[in-house]
Amino acid sequence: MTDLPKTYRVKSFGCQMNVYDGERMAELLGAQGMTAAAEGADADLVVLNTCHIREKAAERAYSDIGRLRREDGSKPMIALAGCVAQAEGAEAKARSRMIDLVVGPQAYHRLPEMVAEVANGGRPVDTDMPAISKFGALPARRKVGPSAFLTVQEGCDKFCTYCVVPYTRGAEISRPWADIVAEARSLVEGGAREITLLGQNVNAWSGEDEKGCSGGLDSLIRALARIDGLERLRYTTSHPADMTDGLIAAHGEVDKLMPYLHLPVQSGSDPILKAMNRSHSAESYLRTIEKVRAARPDIAISGDFIVGFPGETDEDFTTTLAIVDSVRYASAYSFKYSARPGTPAAVMEGAVTAEVMDDRLQRLQVRLAEHSLAFNRATIGKDLAILIDRKGRLPGQMIGKSPWLQSVFVETDAGIGDMLDVTVTHALTNSLGGVLRTAKAA
Ligand code: 5AD
Ligand code: SF4
Repeated sequence: MTDLPKTYRVKSFGCQMNVYDGERMAELLGAQGMTAAAEGADADLVVLNTCHIREKAAERAYSDIGRLRREDGSKPMIALAGCVAQAEGAEAKARSRMIDLVVGPQAYHRLPEMVAEVANGGRPVDTDMPAISKFGALPARRKVGPSAFLTVQEGCDKFCTYCVVPYTRGAEISRPWADIVAEARSLVEGGAREITLLGQNVNAWSGEDEKGCSGGLDSLIRALARIDGLERLRYTTSHPADMTDGLIAAHGEVDKLMPYLHLPVQSGSDPILKAMNRSHSAESYLRTIEKVRAARPDIAISGDFIVGFPGETDEDFTTTLAIVDSVRYASAYSFKYSARPGTPAAVMEGAVTAEVMDDRLQRLQVRLAEHSLAFNRATIGKDLAILIDRKGRLPGQMIGKSPWLQSVFVETDAGIGDMLDVTVTHALTNSLGGVLRTAKAA
């Protein structure tokens, strides 16, 4: 028997969905009377909310656990949560004696009872994917920052051959309309001015509105845009095959929907896209981008890329560079292929060597950076609405987001949550600098 923890820390790795889950776990522990450990202070309970998408991310979980041992040899209570917990379950517990409990992404509403079980000498594991979703068992949202995440859809039925998500997050489910609208309202009441709708396949969301009419993400976006006090909406991550005409039209018609679309393509080569089971071709992807740009000409497109998928030749890679040039991405994430246990690609022939992968990733990133810089430079001289979301490192410096999700540095005595009118004065690959419009006029 040990005492119940009084303080907690939740550390989230990986995607925005994990950030959201981490916030919900913190709220759950807070509702039990626990308090968040202060920055740098020791916590009685540490929740590691892990990522399993690539090998490096998964290994990080275990190296982090090792570092939690205190100088006097004691350790906090350790909960392994997130996708490593889901994928490895009881094996994780066997691999590290430091772990006290293992809880998967669909079971974390049970965290408080599991913590109590640990205090009673147990070592519970819960990686169930119950039919009744965890959301109903979570406490209401509390005070949030100006920009909040809201999970509307979870899981994935696409089964791209490299990806663990369909296994770690389970089948695609859409949260009900009314729950989402209620959560959005409470986020706005709690201080959010911008909401990013989250889902592994967010544009596959479907549901029925309060009148019983079924619709897709576009109808949900239109309804959320009617919430007073909510000024900006975003959504991520989308699959090209689910980019409906209705959703594309919403980009041209809903003012609060920001001009930004994260639409991963992964590769520009049709044979590789086929081997990845992506259900789109380079051509059909480009057609979708064209339609989106017709609806919203200034939209920023962002993407994800994988280099070194099994069987990828130099020629395949060249077509990836070509698609990058034709889309002119405003921003992008690029990764070396990582073989994940249990996925179909892990047993495919044609492994690409580490040197070739390194070389392709480097070349791809140089090309992507050129396009990001060009996109950012094109905003120099423009006046943009910037939603301030954090402090900069220099005194008097604040950082906010442009409509195109660029980080903008500005000198101001305004606070977090303020929307400022900023003239862009300079551009780097990953950020912009600007001056307050009033400051410029003065
Ligand atoms: N190896 C490398 N990158 C991957 N991703 C997903 N699975 C893998 C993998 N096995 C990338 C994809 C996806 C992003 C979230 O992570 O680009 O869009
Ligand atoms: Fe993974 Fe593909 Fe589903 Fe995205 S669409 S989560 S890459 S399986």
